[in-house]
Amino acid sequence: MKRRDMLIKTLAAGALLTIPKPLQIFANERKNVVLTEVSGAGNPLRFPPVFTNGGNMTLAETTEQVWPGQDTQLVTINGSYPGPSVVIDKGQTFTANVINNLNEVITTHWHGVSAPANMDGHPRDAINPGSSFTYTFPVINRGGTYFYHAHADMLTAKQVYRGFAGFFIVRDPAENYNLPSGAYDVPLCIQDRRIADIPNFTYNPGSPEQTWGYLGDTVLVNGTPDAYFEVSKTLYRFRLLNGSNSRVYRIAFSDNRSFSIIGTDGGLKDAPVTATQFNLAPGERVEILVDFSGNTIGSNVTLRSLAYTFGGTLPYKQGIALDIIRFDVTNNNSSGGIIPAAFSPITYYNSSEVVETRQFDLTMSGSHPMHKINGFTFDINRIDWTTRLNSLEKWRIRNLTADYHPMHTHEAQWQVLSRNNSTNLPPSDKGWKDTVNLSPGETVEVLVKFTDHKGLYLFHCHNLEHEDDGMMLNFEIIDPIGIEQIGTEVPRSFELHQNYPNPFNPSTKIKFDIAERVADNASLKIFDIRGRQVAELYNGKISAGSYEAEWKPNFMPSGTYFAKLTAGNFTKTIKLILTK
Ligand code: C2O
Ligand code: CU
Ligand code: CU
Repeated sequence: MKRRDMLIKTLAAGALLTIPKPLQIFANERKNVVLTEVSGAGNPLRFPPVFTNGGNMTLAETTEQVWPGQDTQLVTINGSYPGPSVVIDKGQTFTANVINNLNEVITTHWHGVSAPANMDGHPRDAINPGSSFTYTFPVINRGGTYFYHAHADMLTAKQVYRGFAGFFIVRDPAENYNLPSGAYDVPLCIQDRRIADIPNFTYNPGSPEQTWGYLGDTVLVNGTPDAYFEVSKTLYRFRLLNGSNSRVYRIAFSDNRSFSIIGTDGGLKDAPVTATQFNLAPGERVEILVDFSGNTIGSNVTLRSLAYTFGGTLPYKQGIALDIIRFDVTNNNSSGGIIPAAFSPITYYNSSEVVETRQFDLTMSGSHPMHKINGFTFDINRIDWTTRLNSLEKWRIRNLTADYHPMHTHEAQWQVLSRNNSTNLPPSDKGWKDTVNLSPGETVEVLVKFTDHKGLYLFHCHNLEHEDDGMMLNFEIIDPIGIEQIGTEVPRSFELHQNYPNPFNPSTKIKFDIAERVADNASLKIFDIRGRQVAELYNGKISAGSYEAEWKPNFMPSGTYFAKLTAGNFTKTIKLILTK
């Protein structure tokens, strides 16, 4: 069959089905396409529709023809798999009314996007079947390639596998580097699926797969099996998202060409870096510039995952060679895009300013092996640690298992400090990262500062089977200053800030914490019930850290007093009860 006939056939079929039309914002300049016979068949790359900001996102079980001529039952959003692409400018308010027409609970998490805690899709904020929830928040992230996906407790892997994911692309109008745009700026959501699961995107992992992850044997790009994309002899920007449950890809081209890595999870790097391959673990995004100008019309090149050695004896394996998408060079148009020498500089954190170091050991143990972080599996009601706003922290993550663990934090972008004690990092580690893969035995240190929201967030493995197995912890971001009476019970509940006074006599100790950015001048004063200052325990210069002060009221009468901590623009007050 001539390619043109094949195209017409595919398109005609597509019109009958509910497969979404190409995304106009990314593919609006495909005029003058000269159809040329090229090798290989396949399906033209699909693009999900662009989400209309403020509109509905309706989750439903739908039948679509993912493979032409074959009905597949899966989860769609507004009838589309993958879900519609959010494309939004930095500074705008994102709003989506998520409607749950599935028969189980859902939440939607905006991966890599900074959102208030109650908008972050935490599994405790489940949306019941038949209900809806409006997510709305201002987009404050850097321009970049983010995504959204299911995050309900123990249902994430299944729901993502069955189709619950989509792009969340933030554009920053201030970033103007003459990168390829329009039809030359192409998002590629890479997901492996099992031929054996067709036609129903069945998700039914056996117990070894719950341990290692649910791997497929074929790759879909934007929901397109055997995808091809027609390109011009020019420079393209590809935004690669690994939306797979557990597969780690070693991305390269079939002709081993080099390309420029320009972006990581949190947007553009400080400068493009030339590479021929990189690893892309679940949850990670990498943006590349690829130049097809050296190709002849009629030729093609395939983006693929290279084979690599990885242990395990499952029928579905990590490390097998897989074709991802074929690029057919069909015409001479120019994108007008360039490879800039540099982007705007990234201010790298200074590790000497770290005020808190945390260690996370990733383990797998037990007779039914459970994935654990510091010996814990996920408890939706337990807060595993608190972290202060605007405090620079170092997280040292050690992988003590024989599997990959792409570790992910909500609510901030990390900077990788070291991998296996080396600060000589691969280009895909350098830049802003919210997901960092650890190979067996690896140790990675990241620096992190939460600057935007308080509340409950998650830290977890983005191998979705591991996540559902409990490889996830809750942390709470709290005020940059903290004060508590020593010896008081601070309940480990969601209402962490309550402090229950512990009646004392003759003296009491008060612990207070100062985060880095407010560390300058601080005061700790005691007031009586009528607001009169009765003691000053500290007043002066202070550096970030934890301190203890003691109040001996001596001749003060019994009653209620208040200890007030002030630092920078922050104040916090606790109640003290003196009983004589
Ligand atoms: Cu993309 Cu908590 O995950
Ligand atoms: Cu996330
Ligand atoms: Cu893991």
